[in-house]
Amino acid sequence: MSPDAPIGVFDSGIGGLTVVRSLLARLPHERVIYVGDTARVPYGPKSPDTVRRYAEEIGRWLVGEGVKAVVVACNTATAHALDALRSTLPVPVIGVVEPGAAAAVASASHTPIGVIGTVGTIASGAYERAIHARVPEATVLPRACPLFVPLVEEGWLEHHVTELVAREYLAPLVADGIGALVLGCTHYPLLAPLLARIVGPHVRLIDSADETARVTATTLDAHGLLAAVRATPPRHRFVASDAPDRFLALGQRFLGQTLDHVEHVTFG
Ligand code: DGL
Repeated sequence: MSPDAPIGVFDSGIGGLTVVRSLLARLPHERVIYVGDTARVPYGPKSPDTVRRYAEEIGRWLVGEGVKAVVVACNTATAHALDALRSTLPVPVIGVVEPGAAAAVASASHTPIGVIGTVGTIASGAYERAIHARVPEATVLPRACPLFVPLVEEGWLEHHVTELVAREYLAPLVADGIGALVLGCTHYPLLAPLLARIVGPHVRLIDSADETARVTATTLDAHGLLAAVRATPPRHRFVASDAPDRFLALGQRFLGQTLDHVEHVTFG
């Protein structure tokens, strides 16, 4: 495997571009192939078996495109499919749950840790297991917030409806005195300003994207796979399994930079 090969990143849709944004900030010489499974989004309410099948299809496709590592940017896919991907793909596979859990315990090991995510992620217990593997006595307060994804997709980041919904979801966690809140879903970092106002200044919001980028850098380094410094900016590929035009229009908000082309690939 060549250090010059791209990193494969995938998510159920465009939300995982928040992880690409952090990756490119930390690893500016790396090339990325990003797949958003826009034909089959959302993964959040789907069964573990279905999400695992989707994740394996995309993982195999990325390996066929020659990636040197796969980053599972989707929390739900990480929760249901990380072990399967690690045992079947011939490249290092990095998920978002372990990095998010590590960041959470680093900032709040003595206060309860709130974890919010999709129904699938919360039902899987993946964050609780990852946090307890580090700090067995940690108190973890999980809460599924299924309405957040459609609200973010609608662009209602500072809307009064989103604020009402968020207050409803977060009230029990705030009442229980959480010290950190893990944003366990690709879409939630876009709600961070609103969520920060609701939980107050003493609660640290944990966005696993930055920590995932750090773990990706460490993993590539450990395998001798870090790209050499390039004289010209690397060219990335962005792939959607449906509606590439919508991906192009919405994706820039998640990526934080202009997208000029999105390819269309069908899976399954
Ligand atoms: N990408 C998913 C996650 O991080 C959120 C969207 C979905 O439900 O597919 O869990």
